[in-house]
Amino acid sequence: MRVLVTGGAGFIGSAVVRHGLANRLGQVFVLDAMTYAANPLTLKPHHGHSDFGLIERDICDAEAVRAAFEQVQPDAVMHLAAESHVDRSIDGPGQFVQTNVVGTQVLLSAALDYWQALPADRRAAFRFHHISTDEVFGSLGEEGMFSEDTAYNPRSPYSASKAASDHLVRAWGHTYGLPVVLTNCSNNYGPFQFPEKLIPLVILRGLRGEAMPVYGDGLNVRDWLYVDDHAEALWTALLKGEPGATYLIGGECERRNIDVVRAIARTLDEFRPVGAPHERLIEFVTDRPGHDRRYAIDTSGARERLGWKPSTGFEAGIRRTVEWYLDNEAWWRPIVEGSYRLDRLGAVGS
Ligand code: NAD
Ligand code: DAU
Repeated sequence: MRVLVTGGAGFIGSAVVRHGLANRLGQVFVLDAMTYAANPLTLKPHHGHSDFGLIERDICDAEAVRAAFEQVQPDAVMHLAAESHVDRSIDGPGQFVQTNVVGTQVLLSAALDYWQALPADRRAAFRFHHISTDEVFGSLGEEGMFSEDTAYNPRSPYSASKAASDHLVRAWGHTYGLPVVLTNCSNNYGPFQFPEKLIPLVILRGLRGEAMPVYGDGLNVRDWLYVDDHAEALWTALLKGEPGATYLIGGECERRNIDVVRAIARTLDEFRPVGAPHERLIEFVTDRPGHDRRYAIDTSGARERLGWKPSTGFEAGIRRTVEWYLDNEAWWRPIVEGSYRLDRLGAVGS
């Protein structure tokens, strides 16, 4: 099986690549523009592997995308390329519309032309798998969970752009018959995550003895999904998913943000006792504008229809993640001394 993975140099995409290669699920070809979010070191171990290829191009570039289909001749596409950070979408929504909406349309159009020219057996087996987020459903109160039937209610520029991309993918499935599969998942964490996101940001700031910023009252709740569990779910959805179907993927680990940060502080105390107690670094800061209160995922659909469930508990996942950042300074140091110095984003002037 030949799989074109867009965004494969990013956090989740690279976990998808590692999982696919380690389990010999297919040949993996990454299409990635190598934006600020892609660290060239992430995919370096795979260069030269006979089942791996990297095409450094933008999904908004129609010619380049068509050439990639021509070159790779994929049996499936896993579409992860996106602008992914809510805070950056507050500061600069234009790039989110460009990549997440226009880029998805460019990719869909190229995929459709390619798919229509395939012989019947390969056309039937082909999948366009779109990877999306629970944020398209908006915010929950104290009770309830998102399910496959929840109505869309995106409330940030990021989630609005992802919702638009979901609608485009479904439209290509409904109108043209392209065999699409969608997954919407909760907050991922784990190795290789760009340190603008809460967990790596707090780990790295804590290591440097700097304030650990908690937005608002810290009582916003997210469901945390270990990235390798997610990669396994994505391959399962690709291989077993029904055309036209949507699957919700979650970690079954709901936590308040303040509890996430405290768990990281405790883990740092253990590995770096010299800085203990790291909890003293916690600082409540101005809230994110439009900050959604709570996300939660009902995974029963994925359990029943895909036979997948998350396997990493939150405490074990946090421990593994902290250890990875401690052991892989060569991966993150160029970032924090270069393009992103662990500063606040998306606070609109505060
Ligand atoms: P990321 O920011 O770590 O990586 C995104 C990748 O896409 C990078 O390698 C980047 O270079 C590439 N990219 C960006 N613009 C591109 C373009 N125009 N053309 C080609 N490549 C481009 O993101 P991530 O956290 O790995 O998220 C991957 C996907 O999963 C995204 O679609 C995101 O919306 C979705 N998602 C992420 C999470 C999460 O918690 N991280 C949760 C739910 C859904
Ligand atoms: O829910 C899935 C989404 O999870 C994905 O679709 C996104 O691609 C992914 O980036 C993530 O969403 P956010 O961009 O909101 O993640 P972030 O890590 O920035 O924020 C997680 C929570 O932590 C959120 O409630 C805001 C809070 N937070 C974040 C940062 C960076 C803080 O309290 N302090 C911080 O410094």
